[in-house]
Amino acid sequence: MKKSFPPIVYLNGHWLSHDQAFVSVFDRGFLLGDGVYEVIPFYKGKPLALKEHLERLRYCLNALSIQFEISGLEEIIELAVEKAGLKQSDSIVYIQVTRGVAPRTHFFPEEVTPTILVYAQPVLFDGFTSRLASVIVSDDLRWHRCDIKSISLMGNVIANQEAHRAGADENILVRNGYFTEGSHTSVFFVRNGVVYTHPTGPFILDGITRRIVIRLCLNLGIPVKEEPVAQTDFHYLEEAFLTGTTTQILAIGKFILDRKEYFISKDVGSVTRRLQTAFSQLIESQRK
Ligand code: PDD
Repeated sequence: MKKSFPPIVYLNGHWLSHDQAFVSVFDRGFLLGDGVYEVIPFYKGKPLALKEHLERLRYCLNALSIQFEISGLEEIIELAVEKAGLKQSDSIVYIQVTRGVAPRTHFFPEEVTPTILVYAQPVLFDGFTSRLASVIVSDDLRWHRCDIKSISLMGNVIANQEAHRAGADENILVRNGYFTEGSHTSVFFVRNGVVYTHPTGPFILDGITRRIVIRLCLNLGIPVKEEPVAQTDFHYLEEAFLTGTTTQILAIGKFILDRKEYFISKDVGSVTRRLQTAFSQLIESQRK
């Protein structure tokens, strides 16, 4: 998928065209990957789970002691959508906060002003119910604080490049013999009619779409367990799907494991389908 630059970006209090928006080479985001980010979906100009996304951003900033007050952010986010001309269409808002500009040290410098970047970009969300993803099973090479949505994404990037090279859509990462999540998605499995997903904690991002799906399971009376699934149980899985802000709920059709291909399903499974239908209804009510 070819991506383009957003029409306008907010950088440290200024609205700029993408080719006018610069940060210092001494920004700790650039030098050290010292920052966090958030991606929020907007359906026809209206945010889905905005509070939860902002709360997760606050959690990540606190975890890294980045002194940034997020209370003014809602207004900037709304303006980003408006200024990009996306009030009537679907979009995502990307927010990034780095610790700011300072002479390079490994410890946190004092009295540094965070760098803040916000932009909205159009997204074509439709079609998630009719597609089947292929995934490659890869080692989870990431750090032990995957609950922090850090801009240091080397482990995720290396993994996803492996998927890209193999012609797969996404990875399913494995740590200590257990499936954790995707390189940029959460992952769910269905076995004996029960939905499984890795518990929150240091090894996965507490995905907002993941939370929504768990709530949908509870509403629909679908049994759901936040328990890790072992890679060795792979052959017993009935269904599997990915979730995420831009991925929504995407059924997995094919796994690539040790260079072999395994078809879990040629069609979207019945549990995944029920969740997709409920999710579509949620989106439609959002768009109204
Ligand atoms: N990715 N796990 C990881 C590692 C992620 O990067 C993401 C999101 C998710 C899903 O989280 P959510 O449902 O809150 O979007 C899970 C974003 C969209 C990205 O990196 O662009």
